Amino acid sequence: MKEFKKYTVTAALPYTNGPVHIGHLAGVYLPADIYVRYLRACKKDVIFICGSDEHGVAITLKSRNEGITPQEVVDKYHKIIGDSFKQMGISFDIYHRTSSATHHKTASEIFSTLNEKGIFEVEETEQYYDNEAKQFLADRYITGTCPNCGNPNAYGDQCENCGSTLNPTDLINPQSTLSGLAPVLRKTKNWFLPLDKFQTRLENYIGSHSEWRSTVLGQCKSWLQNGLQPRAMTRDLDWGIKVPLKNAEGKVLYVWFDAPIGYISATKELFNKNLTEEQADLYYLRNKKKEDRQGNWEDYWKNDSSRLIHFIGKDNIVFHCLIFPAVLMAEGSFILPDNVPANEFLNLEGKKISTSRNWAVWLNEYLVDLPNRQDELRYVLTSIAPETKDSDFSWKDYQSRVNNELVAVLGNFVNRVVVLTWKYYEGIAPEFPTIKLNDSLQRSIDLADQDFQKVIRNIAPLLENFKFRDAQFEMMNFARAGNKFLADTEPWKLIKDDENKDSVALIMNYMIQTCANLILLCDLFLPETANKLRKQFNLNSDFTGFEKFGISNLIPAGHLINEAVLLFNKIEDAEIQFQIDKLESSLKANNAVVEKSKEIIAFEDFEKTDIRIGTILAAEKVPKTKKLLKLTIDTGIDIRTVVSGIAEHFDSEKIIGQQVSILVNLAPREIKGIVSQGMILMAEDAEGKLFFVSTLTNLPTGSVIK
Ligand code: 2FM
Ligand code: ZN
Repeated sequence: MKEFKKYTVTAALPYTNGPVHIGHLAGVYLPADIYVRYLRACKKDVIFICGSDEHGVAITLKSRNEGITPQEVVDKYHKIIGDSFKQMGISFDIYHRTSSATHHKTASEIFSTLNEKGIFEVEETEQYYDNEAKQFLADRYITGTCPNCGNPNAYGDQCENCGSTLNPTDLINPQSTLSGLAPVLRKTKNWFLPLDKFQTRLENYIGSHSEWRSTVLGQCKSWLQNGLQPRAMTRDLDWGIKVPLKNAEGKVLYVWFDAPIGYISATKELFNKNLTEEQADLYYLRNKKKEDRQGNWEDYWKNDSSRLIHFIGKDNIVFHCLIFPAVLMAEGSFILPDNVPANEFLNLEGKKISTSRNWAVWLNEYLVDLPNRQDELRYVLTSIAPETKDSDFSWKDYQSRVNNELVAVLGNFVNRVVVLTWKYYEGIAPEFPTIKLNDSLQRSIDLADQDFQKVIRNIAPLLENFKFRDAQFEMMNFARAGNKFLADTEPWKLIKDDENKDSVALIMNYMIQTCANLILLCDLFLPETANKLRKQFNLNSDFTGFEKFGISNLIPAGHLINEAVLLFNKIEDAEIQFQIDKLESSLKANNAVVEKSKEIIAFEDFEKTDIRIGTILAAEKVPKTKKLLKLTIDTGIDIRTVVSGIAEHFDSEKIIGQQVSILVNLAPREIKGIVSQGMILMAEDAEGKLFFVSTLTNLPTGSVIK
């Protein structure tokens, strides 16, 4: 295999339109972090790059929904996401932003280079335009009926009901989400990357990487087989990087052109010696000191001895394996991604994670709800990482993995070693004696040695091949083998006989060395645990490095270790129930909120309604019905009877005098022999409970609501 001098490892830039959730962590950031920690432990020259993806329609939609500017949206979430990553121990060298001046300049320059080389094809196409909002509509700003399944709320790019990919013109009865009006088709000019012209080069490139994951190759090959089509690299939008050309008013770079270039601009910023302290904080720089960031960004991007690896989720495969490489090929001076270990998706309690439906475990909330349990989440997510197929996170499984694996295997093993060392030697590591072992002890040592050697042999190749789930399992096998050895040899029984003194010393020394080796493994997967263990074993922070792994005398005899502190605490049922309830309530709330909006009506239609403040004068149950109350209501205009289906929610005596909103010009209807004249407005919560709609302060009866 080729020897690389440098490693450029990137993790997909998250959209800054909301916090990140466990699906993002399991699919992208954890595997990337484990890989980088492994490379660093092997003393490789590696940079770990990420940042906020701050352009595109996702951001403008959020800004409309939250009633704040796009810049305010990205500022808010850049901080929330950056803080969550930092607390989770995701060890980026830089967490940059695509709104930075360096990024705008870099993306514009690459676009201009391609333009000067005559790469783009400028074409006029018809796009939907909103005559009232006076702008072209991004796909997400158009809704309509899905031609495949009839869902009336499909988006211009996708139907979330049946999952089909759509073009806005596929929608039946399209409607602009900006004005509610039907959009019209209008001609507009855009710059297209002719992917068809890169077909052969991309085929050769993908063909030369048979070592990639089959799921990744599968997607690439299917696109290649269908024949690549030109793709617009510009958009009619007012948020993003302005197209750096004359005659391109109102156009920005397509977010998928600008986002991957974000990896390059982040690298530039990482080596920018003029970065202020404030910028270093804003970009979460790992090494804030300039002298620790020696080097040149181009060494990591423009040298064949550098290895570029993109960690992404499966929805980003085509962009990283075909479109971005085509841009890099067109530019001409960059290396191409050498591997793109994309993951499948993580589900939550058997359902697809959905940010819009709040069916997610958000990292910022996890960090508050379950404080100091970062490594627990890292462990569980890596144990179930969706490396080859979609996988499922459930809170019960989380609890059982923490309690039965981290607490009962890893924590318990270390605890036994520390407690026994204190009990027998007052915390001082004993000499490894040179003695003749009896047969039974020799057999136990041989078996344990075999177990340890297996892990030592297996773990590096697994990490090199991005099999982090299995690699972490091997780390646990190390602790399992330690526990088994203690159970086999039972030093607590041997110690009772003075003759066995040397055997016990040997066992304990062997196990202390095992713990030292475990620290080196925890460094890759569970950084906080590794730090705690270093403290526990009284080792300096420089006790790291994969070259030490497998060595049997890492801790010298005579070394004093600290008294036992619990490494992990059990998760109680109540903590899990809290999380399950939280998910369920978001589901209920969501069910209430997602009730589809009705057809748009004209203002004149609304004006036809006459809604007033009324007062309930009398209320009685309608005989032989469960739900109906006969209300006598003073509307200010008259006193009238209204039959309302609220009997199960209110005591008739208790609502006398209640102010209500009443639609007074509704045509009278006969209900159970009573003529009902009007309708009371009610609001319903997620549980189906009803509430009167009234004003905060009492108003004169008859006041008009408009
Ligand atoms: O899918 C996403 O969340 C995109 N923001 C990923 C961008 S990755 C890269 F291109 F920067
Ligand atoms: Zn559909």
